[in-house]
Amino acid sequence: MKFFIDTANLREIEEAHDLGVLDGVTTNPSLMAKEGIKGKSAILAHYKAICDITDGDVSAEVISTDLEGMIREGEELVKIDPKIVVKIPMIKEGVKAISYFTKKGIRTNCTLVFSGGQALLAAKAGATYVSPFIGRLDDISFDGMDLIHQIRTVYDNYGYETQILAASIRHTIHIMKCAEVGADVITSPLSSIMGLLNHPLTTSGLEKFISDAQKLNL
Ligand code: E4P
Repeated sequence: MKFFIDTANLREIEEAHDLGVLDGVTTNPSLMAKEGIKGKSAILAHYKAICDITDGDVSAEVISTDLEGMIREGEELVKIDPKIVVKIPMIKEGVKAISYFTKKGIRTNCTLVFSGGQALLAAKAGATYVSPFIGRLDDISFDGMDLIHQIRTVYDNYGYETQILAASIRHTIHIMKCAEVGADVITSPLSSIMGLLNHPLTTSGLEKFISDAQKLNL
C-alpha cells in the first residue's frame, strides 16, 4: 500500500519523506489556504517546492468547474513537474475533463468521491486515482470503509486499473482498515501515519532493554 501525505505544509512533507515511507502528496485548495499561499504564481511555486521534496506523485487540484477551465488549469499544472497529477472534482464536467486528460496521457485524481457509482464513472473515464473521502462519510453516519470495500470489489470485478486512494483519513485505525480492505493508497495527515509507530509494549520493552544494557558495562 502506498503512503501519501495529505498536506501542503512543507515541514510535514519533509518529515514524512525523512521517515523513508513517503510515496506522494495530495493537496486541495483548503490545505493550500491553510498554509497562507496566495496568488497564482505563489501557488505554482508551492507545488514545485512540494515536488522537489518527494519522489512520488503530487496531486494539484483545479479550481474551475467548467470543462475549458479545468483543461486550461490542468495543462498548466502538469508543466510544473512530471510528478504532478491533476486533481479533478467528481462532477459532470470533471468526468469529461478526466476523459480528455486520459486520452492525452495526463494523469488524474478524481476527488470528492462519496459513492460506488461515482467511483465506477471515474474508472470508466480512465482516472489514475479515485479519492473516496472516508472521514467525511463517517462524519454523517455512513461507514466510509464500506465504500472502500465496494469500490475494491467493483474494480476487481472488471480489472479497472484506477488506483483507490483512500482520502479524508482522520486517524491511524483508518489506515489499518484501508490496508485490510485493499486500498491501493492512503492519503493521511502526518499524525495518523506517526500513530502507526506507537505501542506501549514497545515503549516499556525498550526502557527495560536500555536499563539492562547499563548493567553490561559496555
Ligand atoms: C484528499 O485528497 C483530500 O484532500 C482530503 O483527504 C480531505 O480530507 P478532509 O475531509 O480531512 O478535509
